[in-house]
Amino acid sequence: MSRLAPVVIDNGTGYTKMGFAGNTDPQFTIPTVIGLPNKSTKMTSRYGMASKKGIEDLDFYIGDEAIANNKMYSLNYPIRHGQIDNWDHMERYWEQSIFKYLRCEPEDHYFLLTEPPLNAPENREQMAEIFFESFNIQGLYIAVQAVLALAASWTAKKANQTLTGTVIDSGDGVTHVIPVAEGYVLGSSIKNVPIAGRDITSFVQQLQREHFETSIPPQDSFEVAKSVKELYSYTSHDMAAEFQKYDSNPSANIINHSMVDSITQKPYNVQVGYERFLAPEVFFNPELVSSDFLVPLPNLIDNAIQSSPIDTRRGLYKNIVLSGGSTMFKDFGRRLQRDIKRLVDGRISESETLSHNNIKAKPIDVSVISHKKQRHAVWFGGSLLATTDQFYQFSHTKAEYEEYGPSICRHNRVFSSLA
Ligand SMILES: Nc1ncnc2c1ncn2[C@@H]1O[C@H](COP(=O)(O)OP(=O)(O)OP(=O)(O)O)[C@@H](O)[C@H]1O
Ligand SMILES: [Mg+2]
Repeated sequence: MSRLAPVVIDNGTGYTKMGFAGNTDPQFTIPTVIGLPNKSTKMTSRYGMASKKGIEDLDFYIGDEAIANNKMYSLNYPIRHGQIDNWDHMERYWEQSIFKYLRCEPEDHYFLLTEPPLNAPENREQMAEIFFESFNIQGLYIAVQAVLALAASWTAKKANQTLTGTVIDSGDGVTHVIPVAEGYVLGSSIKNVPIAGRDITSFVQQLQREHFETSIPPQDSFEVAKSVKELYSYTSHDMAAEFQKYDSNPSANIINHSMVDSITQKPYNVQVGYERFLAPEVFFNPELVSSDFLVPLPNLIDNAIQSSPIDTRRGLYKNIVLSGGSTMFKDFGRRLQRDIKRLVDGRISESETLSHNNIKAKPIDVSVISHKKQRHAVWFGGSLLATTDQFYQFSHTKAEYEEYGPSICRHNRVFSSLA
C-alpha cells in the first residue's frame, strides 16, 4: 500500500521545524509563538461579525506572521525551556501548522513529534489526545529529541552508525547534555546548562549597549544582537590571546555591519568587536553571564559521561554529537573536543602517577561530531527515521488509540537502526 509521507514536527522553545519525512530540510522553520487578538480588539469586535463563535476562534496568527501583527495581537510563547507550557495555545499552533503551513489533511498521515529528555508520560498522553482526537491522524510516534539528533549525525563523514553517544543539544531555550546508550537515554546522567541561544543574544545585546549607548534603536537591539551573533561569531581557542589580537590589530578583526532602523528606515552602522568571540565563550566561561552556574560545558560533558555506566563510557566519549542552532558557532566542536580531551588525558596521567606508572591506561578516543544537518538535527533525524519500515511498526495507530486510549502513547519503542 502506498502511503503519504509522514509529517515531522519538532516544536522548540524558539523555533518550530516542520515538513514531510524524506526531505533533507524542514519545509518551514518559524518562531514558536502564537498571536491572539488583544483584549481591546476583542471588545470592539463584540459588536461586529468576528465575535460569533467559530470565526473568533480562527482569528490568530503563528510564527513570523504573529510577530508582524503584534500591535493587534498579543504574543504568547507556548513552550518554555523545551516543555509545552500552554496546551490550549499549543493545540491552536499545531492547527495552523497543519492546515495553513503544511496544507495537509492530517487524517491521511502518520505524525512524528519530538519531546525533550525526561518528558513526563502525561505530556505524551496529552499530545496523543490532541493529535488523534482533534486532528484524527492515522498514527503517532513521539521521539526523544536527543535520539533523533544521534540518528541525524550518521550522515557526517567520521560518524559511527550507532545509537550510543552523547548529544549536546543547544537551542534557544535549553542546553542539554544527554548520554544515550543503544537508543535509550541514560536519564540519571543528563546534565542541564541554564544557558542557551536567547541568553547569548541578550549577552551580545548588553555588550553592544555598553559600546554604543545610543546608535542602535532600542526596539531593534535584540534582533541586531541576534543577527550579529549568528553572522559573525566564532569560537576562539584562547580568550586572552583573542583580546590581544583585537587590541593590536583592530581593523583586521572588527566588522562594520550595516542595518536599517525598523521605524525610520534610516541606515546605521554597528561595529562588531569582542562580542564575536565572547558570544560562544559563555559555554566555556559561564561566569561571563551567570553568577551561580559556573561549570564550563566541557567539564559538564565529562561529568555526564563519568556518571554513566562504566561499560558505556568509551562509546560516549567517541561519539559526542552536536545538535541545535546554538552549536553552530564556527569551530565550536573543535574547541569542545580539545577541552574534553585535556580533561580526560589529565585524569589518565594523574592515575598513572598515583600508581607510580605501574598501571598504563589505554588512551580514550574523544570525538566531537559536527555535520551539515546540525542546525536542524532533531528534525532531520526525525525525517530519516520516519521513512523506515520500523517507523510504521513502532507508531501507535488510530485503531490502537481507539481501543486502548491515550495511555498507549506513554511508551514509544526505540529504533535499533535505520534499516
Ligand atoms: N549560525 C548560528 N550561530 C549561533 N547561533 C545560532 C546560529 N543559527 C541559529 N542560532 C541560534 O540558535 C537558536 C535556535 O536554535 P534551535 O532552533 O535549535 O532552538 P529551539 O529548538 O527552538 O529551542 P530548544 O531546543 O532550546 O527548545 C537561536 O538562539 C539562534 O539565534
Ligand atoms: Mg530544539
